[in-house]
Amino acid sequence: MNGRATLRTVPERTLRTGLLALSRRRSLGRLATRLPIARDMVRRFVAGETLDDALGALERLRDRGFATTVDILGESVTSIDAARAAAAGYIEALDALAERGLDRNVSLKLSQMGLNVDEAVCRENVGRIVARAVELGAFVRIDMEDHATVDRTLATWRTVRPSPDVRATADCGAVIQSALRRSPADVDQLIAEGARVRLCKGAYQEPASVAHQDRADVDGAYAALMGDLLRRGTFPAFATHDPALIAEAIEVARADVIARDRFEFQMLYGIRRDLQERLLDAGYGVRVYVPFGHEWYPYFMRRLAERPANVAFLLRTVIREGRGPDR
Ligand code: FDA
Repeated sequence: MNGRATLRTVPERTLRTGLLALSRRRSLGRLATRLPIARDMVRRFVAGETLDDALGALERLRDRGFATTVDILGESVTSIDAARAAAAGYIEALDALAERGLDRNVSLKLSQMGLNVDEAVCRENVGRIVARAVELGAFVRIDMEDHATVDRTLATWRTVRPSPDVRATADCGAVIQSALRRSPADVDQLIAEGARVRLCKGAYQEPASVAHQDRADVDGAYAALMGDLLRRGTFPAFATHDPALIAEAIEVARADVIARDRFEFQMLYGIRRDLQERLLDAGYGVRVYVPFGHEWYPYFMRRLAERPANVAFLLRTVIREGRGPDR
């Protein structure tokens, strides 16, 4: 039985729930990062383990015309030291981006900055990164994690955001997930604050009390929020690989005469590269989210959960490797 046949018997939602549950298992993460076979698979989604690996990928993307944002993989740190080290890594990355003439744009997660260890230390860490971003004329995006972190994430964003006089060159932006029922109210508030918002569907397993469970509802909510952000927002970013939503953004912008330089599309490294190229060639701004680092496990598992075909591909690789190299 091959991987694809095995998977056909598993309902997609069950598979997704299972993979997302596995993504939170730290012990599995530690095991997986030691497996060379997993590393090969991971390379499709992750630009390498070191800053140097990532810089090479960023240079290639820049030369092709893409904008980029860098994510140093790591989340849910459990010590203040680890959170401070992660913040230092981001400052080093910002310096390297500036030195090499690369896009000065990073994306970070608050759980990596110590949100669940000590909120004050977390704010201090992000504050230091944003302060360096202001010195370098850079942009910092605070990724959004699961629904339990939204209030604290937006509160941190409000605390660390640079003052209005520097925002034309250095700013800090937020992320909103269309899956969450609260998001229309958050988007309204963020639009009023002139926030730069990245809109995504949401990558976490959430209960029905706080989040839409059906894909159609998540997509419908995305379309509505996208319309609001396009018409009233400040340089919104539409983070999706969904061709129907991308087509809708283009259509709303055309109908409402919203210029192409007033918004951008964002996609993940290694996903729908064909679509990334097509949009770029059609004259739209496309920013590629480039993750690197050793702590790839939860990020990788979320990418598997998004598309069951990725799991089939992984299983086929495992089975092939188990049999030894192809002849
Ligand atoms: P959807 O999942 O419907 O996929 C549409 C199509 O895209 C699929 O049919 C397939 O062709 C392709 N595709 C999507 N995912 C794929 C995958 N893993 N492998 C291969 N093909 C795939 N989430 C979050 O909760 N907080 C955040 O801060 C962010 N930040 C973020 C930044 C950027 C730049 C992107 C693109 C995404 C995020 N996300 C995120 C993740 C987001 O919430 C969502 O989980 C994924 O983008 C997948 O959803 P799509 O919008 O692509 O649609």
